[in-house]
Amino acid sequence: MNIIETKDIAYSYPDGTKALEKVNFKAEEGKIIALLGPNGAGKSTLFLHFNGILRPTSGKVLLNGDEIKYDKKALMHVRQNVGIVFQNPDDQLFAPTVVEDVAFGPMNLGLSKEEVEKRVDESLKRVGMEEFKKKAPHHLSGGQKKRVAIAGILAMNPRIMVLDEPTSGLDPKGASQILKILYELNKEGMTIIISTHDVDLVPLYAYSVYIISKGKIIKEGNPQEVFGDVKTIREANLRLPRIAHLMEILEKEDKLPFDKPYPLTIGEARKKLKDHFED
Ligand SMILES: Nc1ncnc2c1ncn2[C@@H]1O[C@H](COP(=O)(O)OP(=O)(O)OP(=O)(O)O)[C@@H](O)[C@H]1O
Ligand SMILES: [Mg+2]
Repeated sequence: MNIIETKDIAYSYPDGTKALEKVNFKAEEGKIIALLGPNGAGKSTLFLHFNGILRPTSGKVLLNGDEIKYDKKALMHVRQNVGIVFQNPDDQLFAPTVVEDVAFGPMNLGLSKEEVEKRVDESLKRVGMEEFKKKAPHHLSGGQKKRVAIAGILAMNPRIMVLDEPTSGLDPKGASQILKILYELNKEGMTIIISTHDVDLVPLYAYSVYIISKGKIIKEGNPQEVFGDVKTIREANLRLPRIAHLMEILEKEDKLPFDKPYPLTIGEARKKLKDHFED
């Protein structure tokens, strides 16, 4: 079951920029889906269609199999289901304090004061920001803002969480913490859609991967299929995960017998190397 699906969507910005062309994107319920692409490829533009912030110039967006409608009531329903964490936290955070910011969404859902407090506490704790409750969001560091923005969406408990480059600007530990949280949420049943430039992390958690370039999807499949297409990866100004790149060099330059598909994670590479040297 595809919980989100776009059918041939195209989008042009008011200044005439054609940002998306015939995009067919599917997110299977309960999975983690990654969208990769260089700067300006259309990742953020596509994501803004998932909860109706942008309306396609042509084509349609389906949520749970039903075409999204754009009247106020229908959009409210869509936004209760689909939570988007924006690429730039400054586009999201607006309240005078962290706690008010995170409480805003759940309060608008009409939940009781106790339930709102519970959700705010849990979400801030989950992203490691509970000590910053009283602080003004604009006094936080970039990575801290990002975490609070994630907490704000978490507190709404959406069925689908869409995160536009959630790990950019985070330190390595912070990035893997966020991914761990997303992995846990996914285990609990949430569908997760993320865009990223971090090709090393994608194979660890993504069920399916899309590559977008110049507004078009140019590749889709599981991580092995997508990263197995080295030519397309490079044409899109992306790179292989470092581990796969090392295996490629060992094969091509050092003539070691590591053929494609190259391992994508340290675990897979370790096994392949051990098998080779133990023979
Ligand atoms: N508000 C806007 N008005 C006009 N053009 C826009 C607007 N926002 C984005 N664009 C253009 O649309 C195209 C897609 O931009 P988008 O932000 O979706 O790319 P992206 O893949 O998210 O890039 P990045 O990796 O830098 O975040 C780009 O050519 C960009 O210049
Ligand atoms: Mg973007």
